[in-house]
Order: sequence, then structure tokens, then C-alpha cells
Amino acid sequence: MNGTKNINGVRDPRPILVTGGAGFIGSNFVLEWFAAGKGPVVNLDKLTYAGNPENLATVAKNSDYTFVHGDICDGELVKQLLERYKPRAIVHFAAESHVDRSILGPEAFLRTNIDGTFTLLHAAKAHLDALEEEDRARFRFLHVSTDEVYGTLEPEDPAFHEETPYAPNSPYAASKAASDHLVRAWVHTYKLPALITNCSNNYGPYQFPEKLIPLMIANARQGKTLPVYGDGQQVRDWLYVTDHCKALMAVLEQGRIGETYNVGGGNQRSNLEVVTTLCALLDELLPDSRFRPHQQLIKYVADRPGHDRRYAIDARKLEGELGWRAQESFETGLRKTVEWYLANTDWVENVTSGAYQHWVQQNYGSRETTGAAAGGTK
Ligand SMILES: NC(=O)c1ccc[n+]([C@@H]2O[C@H](COP(=O)([O-])OP(=O)(O)OC[C@H]3O[C@@H](n4cnc5c(N)ncnc54)[C@H](O)[C@@H]3O)[C@@H](O)[C@H]2O)c1
Repeated sequence: MNGTKNINGVRDPRPILVTGGAGFIGSNFVLEWFAAGKGPVVNLDKLTYAGNPENLATVAKNSDYTFVHGDICDGELVKQLLERYKPRAIVHFAAESHVDRSILGPEAFLRTNIDGTFTLLHAAKAHLDALEEEDRARFRFLHVSTDEVYGTLEPEDPAFHEETPYAPNSPYAASKAASDHLVRAWVHTYKLPALITNCSNNYGPYQFPEKLIPLMIANARQGKTLPVYGDGQQVRDWLYVTDHCKALMAVLEQGRIGETYNVGGGNQRSNLEVVTTLCALLDELLPDSRFRPHQQLIKYVADRPGHDRRYAIDARKLEGELGWRAQESFETGLRKTVEWYLANTDWVENVTSGAYQHWVQQNYGSRETTGAAAGGTK
């Protein structure tokens, strides 16, 4: 990577600090960052069940890549990293991210998503104060958040925009909303040059197979049931992960300090539509599968408690101000995703360890089947 240039034609030798870069979106972001030749990355990740260094195997030996195994709640470690690497930006992905897990065990969500974000903000402020004027002017803190902070929409409601009041409904959404409020307060009180993005449901390579799309692909391949929550009519606005990563780069490089940008692909689909589309793709891509038609594997199970009905994102601010556009339609993105999972069955098998099997049993084992077709979307 040495000698490569960023989009402005100049390779910045100072690193960015990425948190949670071994997770789904973080690892896609790091890969895109290197592909665009944007300079060094320090990745701080605790490697929870959702973090997998294998996602970054292709850049692991790159001299511009540094992996630090640690916890964002460890204030001393974060302080030392900032002093040592003097990053020009912090891109904060690290989180507990799965709604179903937040319902079964909210403590980890409050700790990482709220305390962890506070620890980073506190250390970032001290870091900023120690920088030379020019570096201080360029420093950014990008907080990666979710559309779930806005709550749920009725079928005819307009999409979430940046002024939509916060109304989080799950412990996960509440913890992300709290972290967004902390970031906002650090901008206003301490003039921390931070930005927030609130993105809709992502899908694509390296997503842990507890979330709807990779779970359904993994189950369908093995002829297991495809559990759909409730009536399957919950609507999500799907975005291919690389499009999200490109939006994050645009916000990091050109976004206005203190602003929030909503990120979404304008692809509203019910969960049932997603699953039936996946089944049709699998029928086509696995012509010899004895489980065809895969749709016969669908099974409706008891809904997630407090399940939000609909999310939709109005991304006009991001598109208008920063010129970002999603490159993938749902159809092209989903095809790429299914092809990736079918070509990377070893990856799926490696991440679905014994601990994961235990969690699946805990989450789905006691769910009553409703006879109508679960897979949490986030
Ligand atoms: N997945 C989505 O659809 C989606 C949509 C919008 C926003 N987001 C947000 O994007 C971010 C990344 O989401 P994701 O889906 O990649 O999550 P993920 O669960 O796949 O990855 C989270 C990563 O954070 C790491 N991590 C967890 N706790 C940590 C801690 N205390 N210290 C250091 N590292 C820790 C994990 O090891 C993992 O690598 C999250 O903040 C999430 O709220 C996700």
C-alpha cells in the first residue's frame, strides 16, 4: 500500500483509528479504505463473538495495518493508542449490534455502546487538545450509528430524516441513541469535531450469520428451517455494505462538523420478501440442491418482543451535500452477497463455533412456532 494515494491525490501518512474493525461493517470499511489507498489504519477490537480477524487476512501483513486487541472501555489503553499513533481521525464502529442479544442480555450493550463511546470521546478530547493547530483543525471523530434510534414507522409515514425525534424501542436502539446524544454533547460542550451517521440495515460479505440474510443462506444450504418472525411483514430499508462504507468516507472527508447524515439505499423490503428472494436466488445458484424449492423451508415463529414494524431512510441530505449515491440495487447487492456466502462456506463454518450454537439454542430453542414463516434483521 505504501506510495498509494487517496482520492485527493495525496496519501496521508497519519493513521486513522478504527474501533470494531474486525466486525461486519468495520472490516468492509478497512478493506475499502486500503483499496482506495487512503493510508494507515490502527484497528482496536475486542474480538467478541462478532469480531473475526480472518475478515482482514488480506491486509494483515500490510505494513500500514496495525491490529490492537483491546476494549474501547479501557480508558488507559485508548489514551496510550492516541498518544502513540496520533491518528487524524477516529472511526467508531465498535458496538454490541444484535437486537435479539440486547433483549436477552442488555448489560453488554450499555457497557460497550454507552460507556465505551464515552471513553473514546473523553480520550479524543484530550488528544485533540494536545494536537498542533493544523492537526487539530483536521481531526475528526466519526460515530457510526443506526436508524433504529428513530423507532418505528407506520406504513404511510415519511422516511426517517435527520430531524426525526429519537424514539428507540429496543435495548440496542436505546444504547445507540444514548451514544449519539453523548457525541452531540461533546460537539456542543467541548467543540469535539465529530459527525454522526445513522444508517439502515446493511447486508453483504462478512456479516455474522445471526442476522437475517446470512442466517437464511446458511440454513437454506443445509436444509434447515428458515425462521421468519411474526407475519414477516416487518419492513427494512436495505443497503449493501460497500455503499455504506463509501458514505462513511464521504462524511469523514467532506461532512460538516456536528452534523448528522442519514444513510440508506431506498430499498424497502419486508422480511418475507427478502427471504423469498433469497430462496429464488438459491434455487438458481444451487440447481442440484435437494432442498429446492428452498421456500418450503420457511417457518413462521413467534415474533421478537417489541419488534419495530418499519424503517425507511431519507438520505437526501447525504446525496445533496456530499454527492453520495448507492451503487448497488437490492437485486445486484443480494446476488453478490449470496454468491459470496456460497463461495466462502469455510468462513461461515469457522465463525459458527460452539458458543454460537449455544446462543442459537437459547434464542430460538424456546420460541414457539406460529405456523405463519425469524431471523433478526439487525
Ligand atoms: N449491521 C447493520 O446493519 C448496521 C446498520 C447501521 C449501523 N450499524 C452500526 O455499525 C457499527 C458496526 O456494526 P456491525 O454490524 O459491523 O457490528 P458487528 O457486531 O459485526 O461488529 C462489532 C465489532 O465491534 C467489536 N467490539 C464489540 N465490543 C467491543 C469493545 N468493547 N471494544 C472493542 N471492540 C468491540 C466486535 O469484536 C466486532 O468486531 C455498530 O456501531 C452498529 O451499531 C450497523
